[in-house]
Amino acid sequence: MDFRGAHIISVNQFARDDVERVFAVADTMEPYAHREHFTKALEGAILGNMFFEPSTRTRVSFGCAFNLLGGHVRETTDVKASSISKGESLYDTARVISGYSDVIVMRHPQVGSVAEFAKASRVPVINGGDGPNEHPSQALLDLYTIKKELASNDTKIDGMNIAMVGDLKHGRTVHSLSQLLQLYNDIHFTLISPKELKMPKDIVGKLGDAGHTVIETDDMESGLGDNNTVYLTRIQEERFTSKLEADIYRGRFRLNQAIYTRNCQPNTVIMHPLPRDSRKDANELDNDLNQHPNLAIFRQTDNGVLVRMALFSLILDVADKVEQTASKAGWYTGSRF
Ligand code: CP
Repeated sequence: MDFRGAHIISVNQFARDDVERVFAVADTMEPYAHREHFTKALEGAILGNMFFEPSTRTRVSFGCAFNLLGGHVRETTDVKASSISKGESLYDTARVISGYSDVIVMRHPQVGSVAEFAKASRVPVINGGDGPNEHPSQALLDLYTIKKELASNDTKIDGMNIAMVGDLKHGRTVHSLSQLLQLYNDIHFTLISPKELKMPKDIVGKLGDAGHTVIETDDMESGLGDNNTVYLTRIQEERFTSKLEADIYRGRFRLNQAIYTRNCQPNTVIMHPLPRDSRKDANELDNDLNQHPNLAIFRQTDNGVLVRMALFSLILDVADKVEQTASKAGWYTGSRF
């Protein structure tokens, strides 16, 4: 894949070599993300960060990644704050914003909207989540995290066992991650969800066609055993027709310390794309696991900055200029990492 100037809309654009190229560049970003050095590789460049759905991690980490590479960020964070609320089309919005930006990240509630926007854009567009469809940068950071976590247990992605739990119908992160895992060999997927919220059939079919094993179940405790990674998801309330409908499923599958100890292997990595729903009636990932060494959720969020820096530097073709324009950070950086 030629990253230079590319739109990143779907994980299906990536070959395994492309994923590994992103990971290799992400590794080189640690000194900048960890505030040991700063770089001016993207000095003068502008990111149009357009989020038409709520976001904490994706919006802020894409913004930070761009800032850490020396660039500026312009944000639009609500349909009401944009002329889309006056009836302006995605086509016109893309033509306009791409005249003001060097690259755009966009999140939008409709499936296919980011691809439609990208067709009209004059600069590269990265999909920050298009409804229940895809979230490619989340899948890259999730897989980067899995790779690192497994490496610390001397295990590889090829041959791994993963359980995905929760709302697999509407969860775009599991749609993208499972399709990215398809590029690897002999993955054993256990898909744990209510019968009504199963992984879309076309994705399950693709996993089987690629030679992976897929088990679908609604019995969480039996599905948890023998996995290298358990990836939990929230009931995606915003994709249901009403809160009442989402309430039927909320809290059905929960992982806490007792359930983990009873069912999981001692090294099983616990992941969640976040946000986790910490309200009492949901609580799919309990706070009593917060200090557990295998809880990787905040390593995922930190890794998001590295992976997003890698994407920007590859798309804008500055990967080899990052170190050339680097200086040592002159401020107190503490020991956050
Ligand atoms: N994981 C994720 O997409 O989080 P946000 O919705 O906060 O961006």
